[in-house]
Amino acid sequence: MTVSHHFFDGVDLQALAAQMPTPFYAYSASAIRQRIAALQDTLEGLDARICYAVKANSNTAVLQLMARHGVGADIVSAGELRRSLRAGIEASRIVFSGVGKTEAEIVEALQAGVWKFNVESRDELFLLQQVAGRLGVTAHAAVRINPDVDAGTHEKISTGKQENKFGVSIEEAREWFSLREALPDVRLNGLHAHIGSQILSLEPFRRAMQCMADFARELAAAGHRLRTIDVGGGLGVTYRTGHDRPIAVESYGAVLKEVFTDFPGTLILEPGRWLVAEAGVLLTRAIRVKAAANRTFLVVDAAMNDLLRPAMYEAWHEIVPLHGKQMREVRYDVVGPVCESSDTFGVDRLMPECEAGDLLMITNAGAYGASMSSTYNSRPLTPEVLLDRGRHAVIRRRQTFEEMIAGECMAEAWETA
Ligand code: LLP
Repeated sequence: MTVSHHFFDGVDLQALAAQMPTPFYAYSASAIRQRIAALQDTLEGLDARICYAVKANSNTAVLQLMARHGVGADIVSAGELRRSLRAGIEASRIVFSGVGKTEAEIVEALQAGVWKFNVESRDELFLLQQVAGRLGVTAHAAVRINPDVDAGTHEKISTGKQENKFGVSIEEAREWFSLREALPDVRLNGLHAHIGSQILSLEPFRRAMQCMADFARELAAAGHRLRTIDVGGGLGVTYRTGHDRPIAVESYGAVLKEVFTDFPGTLILEPGRWLVAEAGVLLTRAIRVKAAANRTFLVVDAAMNDLLRPAMYEAWHEIVPLHGKQMREVRYDVVGPVCESSDTFGVDRLMPECEAGDLLMITNAGAYGASMSSTYNSRPLTPEVLLDRGRHAVIRRRQTFEEMIAGECMAEAWETA
């Protein structure tokens, strides 16, 4: 049998998959470090901080990598707060976003001493005041603006339009800044906007930034001192070779510099996908080939519970057989074992013929892959491996059946209660 040697961060994926049952995720630490460095280089000369959007890939080892390179965190839950702190990200580098922060989460974040709350509603603003007052601490807050900009991305990951649930209008934000008296324990001293994800054009970014810069000038003229402007995340990556054309990070940096040239405070960036997507692959093996009337299904052992993006957003991920055999090319619908038609990784994909047992790699799966996985169809959570210049470490082992059902109780417990 011919075995190809596909190296990822110096690790032979065939050899790795011979040691570890599929499916599993593999991430390149070097690729993540390169992205961090590239973004940091771009921001050179600016007073700017990177707060990695933890939701993109929340594995503790990935967060540790961020911490070690001076990257902070953008969190949206107490769970993400705990993960970030545990990974060594200082609370003073953590910003807390999200429309549904609960009182308990606000308490926990204030006690931890997070840097900033990105506040999305009036109700949340007053809750923040109430909790901060009760705890005797000062909360630093930014208002999340909804700049009503169309990010030109998939509607399910677009967040900056008026009809989306995120942020408030400039009119409402203006009003919030006049509430100082009613908010003695909240320092409302920042602006925030995040208009969507997988954005491939600079224009929507420029418009959202311009909107914040104009508003910041207006506020400064009215005597409000802003300390931070958070431009959110959203930088897109290449999923489909020759099809997606991502923004060069240098151009993004140039727009930041141009738009915020007269802003005296700190800029915050919340990239998620851009830092980790291309650093990850999902390895899977073919279970069988199933021929039907007008198509051929390649059934693999990974499924939508492991990588939800194709099912949820019709997202494209390249699927690359690693068997290295010289085979004719055939068209496959690559599907998982889950009982849903949407459990499909690719339709009508032309690729070298495969047979049961062949290894395949689903690329650019480092962001919103493992972090969105579930145990649907009672499939235990998939392992994650970190690769680093020829070495590898399992950073999450496969969930066991017992772990998967831990916490469930037998019916008798309540039937007899
Ligand atoms: N900041 C906030 C407030 C966010 O809501 C998000 C992502 C980010 C930053 C990071 O955005 P990024 O740089 O990763 O584009 N599950 C979807 C993506 C959902 C993004 C949600 N918010 C996907 O798989 O495409």
